Amino acid sequence: MRLPEELQFIANDRMVQKTTDARLSGRTCVLTGATSGVGYQAARRLAQGGASLVLVCRNPEKAIRVQDELERQYGIPVRALHADFSNFTDVRKAGDAILEEFPRIDVLINNAGLHNTKRVLAENGIEIVFQVNHLASFLFTRLLLARLIESAPARIIQVNSEGHRFGGLNLDDLNWKKRRYRGLQGYGASKTAQLLTVWELADRLQGTGVTINAMHPGNVRTMIGMNNGWLYRWYQRHLIWPILKDPAISGEAIYYLAAAPEIASVSGRFFNLTIEEKPAPHALDRSLARQVWKISEELTDLSADSRIRQPGDRRDPLGLS
Ligand SMILES: NC(=O)c1ccc[n+]([C@@H]2O[C@H](COP(=O)([O-])OP(=O)(O)OC[C@H]3O[C@@H](n4cnc5c(N)ncnc54)[C@H](OP(=O)(O)O)[C@@H]3O)[C@@H](O)[C@H]2O)c1
Repeated sequence: MRLPEELQFIANDRMVQKTTDARLSGRTCVLTGATSGVGYQAARRLAQGGASLVLVCRNPEKAIRVQDELERQYGIPVRALHADFSNFTDVRKAGDAILEEFPRIDVLINNAGLHNTKRVLAENGIEIVFQVNHLASFLFTRLLLARLIESAPARIIQVNSEGHRFGGLNLDDLNWKKRRYRGLQGYGASKTAQLLTVWELADRLQGTGVTINAMHPGNVRTMIGMNNGWLYRWYQRHLIWPILKDPAISGEAIYYLAAAPEIASVSGRFFNLTIEEKPAPHALDRSLARQVWKISEELTDLSADSRIRQPGDRRDPLGLS
């Protein structure tokens, strides 16, 4: 029996996933949040596939451990850079360091993310889940965009979530001042905003040879949410972890999206692991998407960036054609 389209994500979770034997030798992959869970598994799989890695992580000790492990085990170059994604200055510094050191970027994977049960504000006053999961990855992508375009063909992968289906994105109250903060909705808002900007950026990147897609990395056992106190941790470990999967599947799926030749020109799509899927209707609202794009540029101080096409803009500001 086929499930209705809005419930298809349940069936997709059980489907046989796609894999690829394609190698990424000599390709430079930038990956955020590689110190744990999904990102750690993605880093291992990319290293196994021969990629050179740039790992952008907030915890330098953990990052060095991952760097040492991957260099020793796979003999590939790994550069670890520090950035706390709740801080835009850190994001900009990491972006500058990458532009300075790496003449090409073949794959960018924005994976760093968190889930809070309580409303917490970043130093700049923005709700931190929205800031880390959406705004920081939006800013980081934009900082590296010209280099990705120069390196084309190149791919951007946004590690998103089926959690976007929880909704919660309210442009009149992005900072949850008027509503009681609810963790799942706050998380859903951040992932919805990210998805909406994926469609927008995919449009703007048409003809550049750079693709952007979003993916759900499976329902996997990681440390996400473990910052929310002992009760949450107990509940997660004893009741939720037993029904979750090994995050190695996330690494394999991210590798597929980064390397598989058959999706080299696929852009602006959402994948449940490796299965293409239709996101929730609210995450497909293009009028909302344009508003989120504009607000995201304003909040990250990017409005002045004229290097990429604007909607309906037929100019070629990067001199690509
Ligand atoms: N686990 C799932 O079932 C699932 C499902 C859907 C989507 N996802 C998505 O998968 C991604 C990875 O999450 P995960 O499940 O692997 O969780 P995780 O084990 O907690 O890993 C999260 C990673 O993000 C980093 N990070 C968190 N806050 C950061 C910040 N402020 N600045 C920089 N890095 C930060 C963490 O660094 P530290 O090691 O320093 O904490 C860690 O490397 C997230 O985007 C999440 O939304 C996960």
